[in-house]
Amino acid sequence: MKKIVVYWSGTGNTEEIANKIAADLGCDAFSVSAISASDALENDLIIFGCPAMGAEELEDAEFKPFYDEVMASIGDKKVALFGSYGWGDGEWMRNWEAEVGANLVTNGLIVNGGASDIDDSEYQKFIGELNI
Ligand SMILES: Cc1cc2nc3c(=O)[nH]c(=O)nc-3n(C[C@H](O)[C@H](O)[C@H](O)COP(=O)(O)O)c2cc1C
Repeated sequence: MKKIVVYWSGTGNTEEIANKIAADLGCDAFSVSAISASDALENDLIIFGCPAMGAEELEDAEFKPFYDEVMASIGDKKVALFGSYGWGDGEWMRNWEAEVGANLVTNGLIVNGGASDIDDSEYQKFIGELNI
């Protein structure tokens, strides 16, 4: 299955996680500013990364418009989610998973910090579900 990681990151935490996931899956990782929605849609599995922003929301200036454009044409392609958060409890990810609905392959990976803060067993489970 052709895969891609597409992310937004303000301070680099989600970017670190994006690069780790892409390296482990053997696919490319792009910032949303570096790829078009139509190029992302050339893939069968799109792995979106966005930190908790606003009040438990997706980043709305760059990421949300890109994500909405991809999702408008997602059809039966597969979607996975990840992102970094700070002081919350992961509410943004629960809302995001619910919004994706049936296209979601597995629960989103949430990390309180950057790549060095990843819970290894959760991470291995996430990667295992994406090795499709
Ligand atoms: C404007 C802004 C809003 C944020 N809102 C939340 C939030 O609602 N919940 C939360 O857990 N963390 C929130 N955070 C913390 C970020 O999710 C956290 O710093 C994360 O590591 C940033 O990821 P990044 O380095 O990929 O940008 C917010 C940070 C900023 C700058």
